[in-house]
This record gives sequence, C-alpha cells and structure tokens, in this order.
Amino acid sequence: MTLDARSPETLAIHAGDLSPRTEGAPVVPAIVQSATYFGGGPDDKGEVQYARYGTNPNQLRVGRKVAALEGAEDGLALASGMAAISLTLLALTRAGDHIVSSSHLYGATRTFMEQELARRGVDVTFVDPDHPRSWRGAIRPSTRGLYLELPTNPTLRLFDLRPVGHLAREKGIPLVVDATFGTPVNFRPLELGADIVVHSATKYLGGHSDLIGGVVCGPQALVAEVRGLLHLYGPSLDPHAAWLLDRGMRTLVVRMERHNENATELAEWFAGREEVERVIHPSRSDHPDHELARELLLGPGGMLGVILRGGAAAADRFVQELRVAALAP
Ligand SMILES: Cc1ncc(COP(=O)(O)O)c(C=O)c1O
Repeated sequence: MTLDARSPETLAIHAGDLSPRTEGAPVVPAIVQSATYFGGGPDDKGEVQYARYGTNPNQLRVGRKVAALEGAEDGLALASGMAAISLTLLALTRAGDHIVSSSHLYGATRTFMEQELARRGVDVTFVDPDHPRSWRGAIRPSTRGLYLELPTNPTLRLFDLRPVGHLAREKGIPLVVDATFGTPVNFRPLELGADIVVHSATKYLGGHSDLIGGVVCGPQALVAEVRGLLHLYGPSLDPHAAWLLDRGMRTLVVRMERHNENATELAEWFAGREEVERVIHPSRSDHPDHELARELLLGPGGMLGVILRGGAAAADRFVQELRVAALAP
C-alpha cells in the first residue's frame, strides 16, 4: 500500500477526489442524490452501484478522505458513529467469539457490547485500562478483537494504546480504537499500534452539527467485511450528508487548531475561578493523563470538563445561564 504523503491540511481538502479536472468540470463535487445507477446489463461486469452499498460517489469520496487522513488502506462512510462501531464489531465476531474492551466507553458502545453482542453469542470482557496488564490476562483463544476509546467520552481519559497494540500484534488480534474525540489531526492511532479506527463523524469531522455520520478505516479486507454487513443491515450515509461531511472536513485542520487553542485558554480561565473545583482538560498538569497526552496527542482537543464547587445545583444554574454555548446534549 502507498500512503498518501500529502499534509493533513491538503488531504482534508483534496483526498478522495474522484473527478477528473477536465475543462468545465465543477470544482466542487456534485451531490449525487441518486439511489440507483445505470448499468447491470448483460455486458456489465462491474460492481453494482447502489447507495445502500456505500458506492455512491459522495460516500466513496468521504470514506477515502478519512482513510487518507488516518493513513489507512481503506475507509467506509456509514450513517452514524454507532453504525461504524456496531458493524465493525459484528464483522470481527461470530457466535462463540470474545472481545476484550476498555471499560471506559461511550454509553451506547457499552450497551451494544453488553446487550447486542451478548444476544449474538459474543462475550465481552471489560478491563480497567489503567492496568495495562489486565488486557493480556483477559485474552482467550476465542478473542477476536481488542477495543479502546481515546480520549474517552465524557471524562477525557487517555490510556496508553502502545502496549495494547504490541499485544494485539503478538496475538494476531486486531486493536480497534474509537478516535472520535481525537480526530486524525490530534491523534494518530494507526501509527501508535491500532489496526482499525472508528469515528463518529457527527462530531469534529462534520464539524457543523448538521449531520449524523460515521467512518471505519483499516485494512482493506476488514473494511470489505464491514461493507458486506452494510449491504445487509443497510445503515448507509445519505449522499447529501456525505457531501456535507466532505465539505465540513475541508476545514478540519484549522478548526482543530482553534479548538485546541480555545479549550486550553478556557481551561486556564476556569481554573482561576473560585467557584471551580476542578477543570478536566488534557492540557492541564493536574489532568490524570497529562503526561500521556503529551506523548499520544498532537493537540489536547476542544472538549472540556468543569466540576463546580456547588455540586449539581450549581452545575444546573451554570448551564441555564450560558448565553453562547448551547445546552444541547
Ligand atoms: C466517542 C463516541 N463514539 C461514538 C459515538 C456515537 O456516534 P453517533 O452519535 O454518530 O452514532 C459518540 C457519540 O456521542 C461518541 O462520543
């Protein structure tokens, strides 16, 4: 595989470009809002194009763009972050198989593992990622995947994925990382030992709160398995949402740079207020994973936690008083 060596700034704009630069062709890719495509006659030996299969040009383009940014062989855009996570886990497992996962997870991911994988005969062992040795102890002959979310939602914890990546390689088991809160600008999971990266594109990648989307990036064979499940379960990204995601991503790098700066400055401001008990941001030296953040992240990110001295009542008052930031969980 040849990695695209262009800078993230350039990739975020141009990677995945499918259209030739011919005279009169539009500079901005068109929204191809079509479910079906001509073809399929007796002479057609190509792949059937159908928007549910993820082969619409807008879907293809944005999947390839995220893959290029991650340095992955292939990428597939899906209808939500949960579609990317659930189909990836389903692609890795069969009844009787086993997953080892960090216990620090986005709620729906945890519920999917506990309820949906269990219903399909797949066992999950949750390990405390503060104790890296627990991963090795939890592995069984039937283990088909290791799973980590970094940084975590909502507590912004970080764990060292490098030893988990070594273990994954030693055992021949893929390490899946949900890098939604990191983005390829701040966090490079594949370079640190992960095999597969999943994203909720709804957040930073889209960047404008106007779409729900997800992406899975990794080796071609695995992405092909997820694509096979997309054919059957059907959570395809609507072409218009794919186009919005592609457009949003053009500014990903500059947005992340500003997020990093703003959140660091705001964290500093909150830390100086006497109403504030603790500020949670990886830039802060009192963050439990501050040193690790300096090793793993290229930027601390825009997510910020604040614990007020007055407890829940003070927190309620605070969010009701917000004028610019919206209370929109
Ligand atoms: C870390 C993380 N992963 C996955 C998801 C799920 O993404 P979506 O809402 O796009 O399905 C979220 C959503 O909040 C998230 O924060």
